[in-house]
Amino acid sequence: MAKICVIGSSSMDLVVTSSKRPGAGETVLGDSFKTVPGGKGANQAVAAARLGAEVAMIGRVGDDAFGTAILNNFKANTVNTQYVKPVTHMESGTAHIVLAEGDNSIVVVEAANREVTPAYVDQAAELIRSADIVLIQQEIPEETVVHVSAMCAGSGTPLLLNPAPARKLPQEVIDNAAYLTPNEHEAEILFQGISPAEALRQYPNKLFITEGSKGVRYFDGEQEIVVPAYKVEALDTTGAGDTFNAAFAVALAEGKPLQESIRFANRAASLSVTKFGAQGGMPTRDEVEESL
Ligand code: ATP
Ligand code: RIB
Repeated sequence: MAKICVIGSSSMDLVVTSSKRPGAGETVLGDSFKTVPGGKGANQAVAAARLGAEVAMIGRVGDDAFGTAILNNFKANTVNTQYVKPVTHMESGTAHIVLAEGDNSIVVVEAANREVTPAYVDQAAELIRSADIVLIQQEIPEETVVHVSAMCAGSGTPLLLNPAPARKLPQEVIDNAAYLTPNEHEAEILFQGISPAEALRQYPNKLFITEGSKGVRYFDGEQEIVVPAYKVEALDTTGAGDTFNAAFAVALAEGKPLQESIRFANRAASLSVTKFGAQGGMPTRDEVEESL
């Protein structure tokens, strides 16, 4: 069984659906409001566990009702929560999502996720070093991402960095990561001054740019390759990237070849967008295998 360690955010997603996205200063009437578990770290942990991996989450929640719901959701999805400790002086993280006109807009309030500090992750150093692969994103402090990347480089543990949401990164973090998975927008921010094609050539078999319904692009050392996405009726694409990253990590940890791992991840991500909520459509292992 693949051993995956996820270091990242856990949030509650407050989701409004509306036929129109309000502009600045505008008020519109919405259709529905739902509260569902989210946060990029938590989403990736849950997705990997549904795909059959042994998953440990390193994160923080508030000592509040959202925190309790987030912890219960991890447990229901068999994610190890030994290192998801509540903080008492801050609320749980929240993501304020508007689903309108076929896409989402999101404001994230990190809150307790700011307490995923270097000192906090050091408490779980053994867990991190002994994982088959470590997954990390950017809804936690940048210094933690820098710290974890050095830890993984030191122990030789493969690190998959999903650089989302977008921010510029120190070169050492890029160097220390085994796999980088920005979407097109994040890739532009990460590699300012060079084209996506140049960036792909600089990082063969390491940089994978996800392009939504088009699929995933990378450079294999000789040529640029696009592994196409699967055609589905998309209902809510929130969490597509998270499902892709988790499934990619699980497949790689199981020793699957690169292209097969991307196809597996594309399939899992395509299933995830057919249902509402970041985690609502995340498939089980059987569902992915049946649909492949
Ligand atoms: P998000 O932030 O919404 O979770 P993202 O922007 O990080 O996602 P995308 O590039 O949009 O990531 O999508 C990641 C992967 O999910 C794609 O490479 C693809 O495999 C799958 N995917 C996304 N949207 C669709 C879609 N409409 N149809 C099929 N597959 C999709
Ligand atoms: O990647 C999707 C996630 O990003 C949502 O669940 C939301 O929490 C936002 O942070």
